[in-house]
Amino acid sequence: MAVKISASILNADYLNLEREIESVAEFTDWIHVDAMDGHFVPNLTFGWGLVSSIKKRFESFLDVHIMVEPADSFVEGFCDAKPDLLTFHIEATHHAHRLAEYIKSRGIKAGISLNPATPIEALKGIIDYVDLVLVMSVNPGFGGQRFIEESVTRVRELSAMRRERNLNFMIEIDGGISPSNARKVVEAGVDVLVCGSYIFESTDRKNALNTLRGVADGRVR
Ligand code: DX5
Ligand code: ZN
Repeated sequence: MAVKISASILNADYLNLEREIESVAEFTDWIHVDAMDGHFVPNLTFGWGLVSSIKKRFESFLDVHIMVEPADSFVEGFCDAKPDLLTFHIEATHHAHRLAEYIKSRGIKAGISLNPATPIEALKGIIDYVDLVLVMSVNPGFGGQRFIEESVTRVRELSAMRRERNLNFMIEIDGGISPSNARKVVEAGVDVLVCGSYIFESTDRKNALNTLRGVADGRVR
């Protein structure tokens, strides 16, 4: 399966968000929206109102990543906004299984994410029930941070777990992704690359995305 690219709008120009999304929607597979609460992570961003507006305006697969605690208090509101995928953090709930089952019952794909310091083994009780695992390759909160190299080993570990247990959840990686590391994370087992500042800081987004895709697929070096 070809690698998917999910454009994170965290580093977009918020006053021109519609045009910003238009400038990348055609060249990316998914749109990634980061909801932050100023508590689980030290930044404040978007709520479900924005998710709902994007869903109505764009046809792209809508990938929503919530960094809010307790995740339990927010999941229903985000489901009402009808994203295609809703990913919450394992560190932000005592009831990951309940939340994953609830999200799926609403006809939405359920994802689970984990911070760089949370061991991959923490996922053992939940990976049978989710559609996707989002591996954070920076500490969540901000775009433009440096990729944590250890994340490659973590993806390999998760990918081995998926193989051994004959599961088919997707693996997504988020933080510091650019052509300099896209190929190695894909080789380690990643199916979806979240990419924010690399895309939105580039003046020629079409070309930047072509390069990223070419490197990720192994066509360009
Ligand atoms: C960070 C967010 C990311 C962020 C990625 O907490 O979850 O989605 O936007 O941005 P870059 O690609 O700049 O690291
Ligand atoms: Zn994210």
